[in-house]
Amino acid sequence: MKKSLRIFSLGLLLLSVSMLLFACGTDTKESGSAKDGESGGEGDSEKRLLIVGTDATYAPMELMDEKGNIIGIDIDIVKAIAEAGGFEVEFKNYGWEPLFPAVSGGEVDFAVSSITITDERKESFDFSDPYFVANQLILVPEDSTVTKFEELKDKRVSVQINTTGHIVTKELLGNTSSKIVATESMPLAISEMTNGNADASVGDNAVIIDYKANNPNVKLKTIEDDSFEKEYYGLMVKKGNTEILDMLNEGIKIIKENGKLKEITGFDVE
Ligand code: ARG
Repeated sequence: MKKSLRIFSLGLLLLSVSMLLFACGTDTKESGSAKDGESGGEGDSEKRLLIVGTDATYAPMELMDEKGNIIGIDIDIVKAIAEAGGFEVEFKNYGWEPLFPAVSGGEVDFAVSSITITDERKESFDFSDPYFVANQLILVPEDSTVTKFEELKDKRVSVQINTTGHIVTKELLGNTSSKIVATESMPLAISEMTNGNADASVGDNAVIIDYKANNPNVKLKTIEDDSFEKEYYGLMVKKGNTEILDMLNEGIKIIKENGKLKEITGFDVE
């Protein structure tokens, strides 16, 4: 009786000691993670804010809603990257060409703008890992006889200036061809074609498809061409800014792994 009582109290002692240890354990862990939470940003207010430049004329990727908010697929992607990477973002509309000096001059921390990662651009900027895959697409009036890109050789082609669409068109028509109508924005390029100032427009597939879908009254058709190479979009940072680049790549890695990126775009990038 006495012995079993002793065993019982010993057991009780062991139990309380282990409970104490367990409690300490959880305590330490909890205060640790609370601290982590704090350094990650007391609530949201202490998270680092990154300024993001864009050309918000590129529906459905980056555009302005009626209230002047910058929205779109690219914007959703960057917001998801920021959430995963533990930072905040604020978007600013620069337009296409002014975006590049805004990044190199440090006015913005990075740019999102359906920017294709190209070797030439990589000489002046650094790019994140790719987050979106695209290709060029041709847009022509519904009654056009054009069937492939090569047939645009002696036609007037409208493009957004200094885009990959402009580059492939220069390769076909010649760098200085007066038949290339290069405009500030993609909507302007398309209107040059619908106005009859160009026979075709060449631009990124998502944007061409979106325009056609949203303008059923304008009688247009799209033409795919196998000669167009796959293009990968990346976030663009000032050359050498590895700090921002690492933050972006970390976020991209997370949203690729957890399926969030695919949820937004509908497809896998690689
Ligand atoms: N992907 C093409 C390029 O990098 C076109 C991007 C244009 N983006 C825009 N928001 N206007 O040249």
